[in-house]
Amino acid sequence: MTNSQGIGVFDSGVGGVSVLREIRTLLPQESLLYIADSAHVPYGEKSPEYIRERCRLIAAFLLEQGAKALVLACNTATVAAVAELRELYPQLPIVGMEPAVKPAVAATRSGVVGVLATTGTLKSAKFAALLDRVASDVKVITQPCPGLVEQIEAGELQSSRTRELLDGFVQPLLVQGCDTLILGCTHYPFIKPLLNELVPANVSLIDTGAAVARQLQRLLRERDLLASGPARAAQFWSSGKAQKLQAVLPTLWGESQEVLQF
Ligand code: DGL
Repeated sequence: MTNSQGIGVFDSGVGGVSVLREIRTLLPQESLLYIADSAHVPYGEKSPEYIRERCRLIAAFLLEQGAKALVLACNTATVAAVAELRELYPQLPIVGMEPAVKPAVAATRSGVVGVLATTGTLKSAKFAALLDRVASDVKVITQPCPGLVEQIEAGELQSSRTRELLDGFVQPLLVQGCDTLILGCTHYPFIKPLLNELVPANVSLIDTGAAVARQLQRLLRERDLLASGPARAAQFWSSGKAQKLQAVLPTLWGESQEVLQF
C-alpha cells in the first residue's frame, strides 16, 4: 500500500457525492475514486443480501483500481454490508456511516429529534442498537422517505413534486415538536436548500459527511497512509447511464468530469 493510492468511495447513486465533497475539502491532497451504483438505486427498498452482493462487487472493483481505503458513503449500505467488508478485508481502512443521532441528541432543546432516512436504514438492527445506546433521554421520531432518493437521482432538487414529497415527510415531525432533523441518507444534503424553505429557522439540520471525512483522516493518519499530493482528478464510474451522472456532476460536484461505465 502506498500513500499516493486513491480512496474508493461509493453509494447507490449520486448521494455519496455529498460525502465526497467533504473528503475533498478536508483532504484535498487525496486522489478520489467514486462509484455510483445507479443501475441498482434505491438501496433503501432492497434486501440486505442484495445490497451486500453489490457492495462486494464494488469493493473488489475499487481495490483493483488501487484504492488504499474504502468509504461506504451510504447509510443503507453501511447497515447491510460494512461488517462483512471488514471481515473480507481486515487490513483495509473502511469507513461506514450512520445517522448522526448522538450530535442531534446533544443539540436538541425541545427533546424531540426527527430522523429522515431510508426504510432499510431505519428498520435495521444496527440503527435500533444506536438508538438504545445514545438516545434514551429524548424522543426520536423516525421517518422513512420512499421516493425522495429517486427525485434527487433525477436532478429534481427544487421541483414541485420533490417539495410536496418532502413536505409530507417533514410536517408530521414539526407538528410533534421536532427541533433537530437528522439527514440520515447521503442523498438528502443536496436538498438542504429546499428543506430550509420548509422548516422554521430554529430547526437544525444535521448530517454526517464532515464527520466521515474526519474519521477517514484519522484512520489514514494512524496507518501513515495520508497522501502528500498533488491529487489526481477524481475518477467517476456509474453502473447506470454514465451520461446521466456526467450531466449532474457540475451541479453536485462543482466540476465537469468524465464518467466511465461500471
Ligand atoms: N444514499 C443512501 C443512504 O445514505 C441510500 C439511498 C438509496 O439508495 O436508497 O442511505
